[in-house]
Amino acid sequence: MQLITSLIITCLLFGFCSALKEGQTCVSNGNCDSGLHCETCVANGNVRPRCTRIQPVNPTSKNGVRGLMLDMYDFQNDIWLCHSFGGQCFNNTAFQPAINVLKEIQAFLEANPSEIVTIIIEDYVTSPRGLSKVFDAAGLRKFWFPVSRMPKNGGSWPTVDDMVQKNQRMVVFTSKSAKEASEGIAYQWRYMVENQYGNGGMIAGSCPNRAESPAMNATSRSLVLINYFPDIPDVTQACRHNSAPLISMMNTCHVAAGNRWPNFIAVDFYKRSDGGGAPEAIDVANGHLVCGCENIVICRANMTFGVCDMPEADISPAPATKPVAHDSSFANLESRPVPLQWLFISILVAILLQL
Ligand SMILES: *[C@@H]1O[C@H](CO)[C@@H](O)[C@H](O)[C@H]1NC(C)=O
Ligand SMILES: *[C@@H]1O[C@H](CO)[C@@H](O)[C@H](O)[C@H]1NC(C)=O
Ligand SMILES: *[C@@H]1O[C@H](CO)[C@@H](O)[C@H](O)[C@H]1NC(C)=O
Repeated sequence: MQLITSLIITCLLFGFCSALKEGQTCVSNGNCDSGLHCETCVANGNVRPRCTRIQPVNPTSKNGVRGLMLDMYDFQNDIWLCHSFGGQCFNNTAFQPAINVLKEIQAFLEANPSEIVTIIIEDYVTSPRGLSKVFDAAGLRKFWFPVSRMPKNGGSWPTVDDMVQKNQRMVVFTSKSAKEASEGIAYQWRYMVENQYGNGGMIAGSCPNRAESPAMNATSRSLVLINYFPDIPDVTQACRHNSAPLISMMNTCHVAAGNRWPNFIAVDFYKRSDGGGAPEAIDVANGHLVCGCENIVICRANMTFGVCDMPEADISPAPATKPVAHDSSFANLESRPVPLQWLFISILVAILLQL
């Protein structure tokens, strides 16, 4: 009912009934096709509001994976999300009790039975079994992907289908190594490499590893995460950062990581871009990961890996258009002879709290 109402209002206001495509001038989010929103990018000199992408193309009939990077602390006899320093949370650095956000994730997984969520915890929790207790309290235990099924030494992950069938749809990593044995929470750096975050990770042509991470080219770690956001969150500049420079850094990191494409891309203000944005970067990486081509829109069921002969319109280097229309072409991707690995990208929304 709500949908019909908003469509009618759009028709009355603008005299047409079809939603706007990517790049077209708009007045509000409601004018744009699904998967798009209406924004300017003043940082790039684009002051005219246009429909820009906020969603990547689905790599399968499933929706792939998505993730959150959360900093967790003991605070006020509970576990809190907090962006702090010295391993301690303060009243003015505290965000909110972790249980609130974990319950939201629980409701999401419950409502979306084919979604997978990854949580990467910067872990300052020292209370006994503090993390386990809060995940249990949020009702997330039933979705837990067990550490025993995680590939050691850079091996392959189970398929999306397999994870969905077993309902093991929540993948959790901690930055505390001892918790893998004591609580069954995977130690991030045994499975993942990550480049430098903040300003140090935004120097064109350079992709050093984050201090805690093994070298980017450590192939004994099967997952690659790319950070691309400045030290201080900047909503104005984010549209510029999340566009061409992000894809350029992804190419730099691809080489640094031993010719591996990222599984996760962490940006600030993931909806902000000057065109294709972070969703476009994800489509490019998924194209390489899934079918060996420049963009996921080129991938087709049963195609030979790396044989990218598709209509010219799709191969154009311009940001891919009509992301939603392409979804249907992946309906039977699961029947591909080569099993699809879990290695699809998602946008990680770095939780950076303004102090
Ligand atoms: C922090 O907030 C709590 C609850 O509002 C309050 O009881 C406590 O006194 C505050 N601590 C400081 C150091 O301000
Ligand atoms: C990995 O990268 C380092 C530089 O960070 C380099 O010294 C080393 O040779 C590389 N190893 C491989 C296997 O490419
Ligand atoms: C892909 O290959 C499988 C197995 O050979 C087959 O069942 C399926 O119909 C093919 N799908 C398409 C779209 O060609």
